[in-house]
Amino acid sequence: MFPEFWTVIPAAGVGSRMRADRPKQYLPLAGKSVIEHTLSCFLDHPGLLGLVVSLAADDPYWANLDCAKDPRIQRADGGAERADSVLAGLHRLSEQGARDGDWVLVHDAARPNLSRQDLDKLLVELGDDPVGGLLAVPARDTLKRAGTDGRVVETIDRSVIWQAFTPQMFRLGALRDALANVLEAGAAVTDEASALEWAGFSPRLVEGRSDNLKITRPEDLQWLQQRWQS
Ligand code: CTP
Ligand code: MG
Repeated sequence: MFPEFWTVIPAAGVGSRMRADRPKQYLPLAGKSVIEHTLSCFLDHPGLLGLVVSLAADDPYWANLDCAKDPRIQRADGGAERADSVLAGLHRLSEQGARDGDWVLVHDAARPNLSRQDLDKLLVELGDDPVGGLLAVPARDTLKRAGTDGRVVETIDRSVIWQAFTPQMFRLGALRDALANVLEAGAAVTDEASALEWAGFSPRLVEGRSDNLKITRPEDLQWLQQRWQS
């Protein structure tokens, strides 16, 4: 069976690489906004205890969505970095009654194609894990290390390289302390696992589907739109 869990959806980014007229989590995809697709996979899960979305303080889009009225969703004020947004979400969960030993899944607002199959796999494989871990995908292409002149320095052994996806699943207290420590130290981390690594832990890699992609550039959204039309 699945462990019960809480969820934080960081959604306070501006989406600068998308170059769109609004943050990418609010762009349309198959009749809804990207973030509504993202949320549905969690809201449909029987193990969900509660969910927090971390939003930009001046966000004018969220309040217009139907899900803004969903009583299972609370909001937190996001911050300058993703780690700030996630940390604010964790504090909000604690206010909701979440305990330090509870599982929290952190998932990008801009990653709307998470399958229920992958979510269940993560929960089942990590349910008894002492640390937690993340969905990830083994590198497929041959990998090159580049020099400053744009030429290949060497070919890297791809068998040990994985791409880090989300959800990332950790205990609330351990994740909060790890994120607070990296922020205090001014260390740059782009995912939650990096914060745990910084604290000396080894998060587990759980192989997921490669189509659980994060929308980063316009072609990512086009790819999802075409896929969901057919
Ligand atoms: N995010 C956040 N708070 C921040 C920065 C990012 O909550 N200060 C969220 C984004 O909204 C997104 C997720 O973290 O759901 C992944 O970040 P990324 O893909 O980098 O999104 P953006 O920062 O919005 O995009 P860009 O880096 O292109 O500006
Ligand atoms: Mg960013």
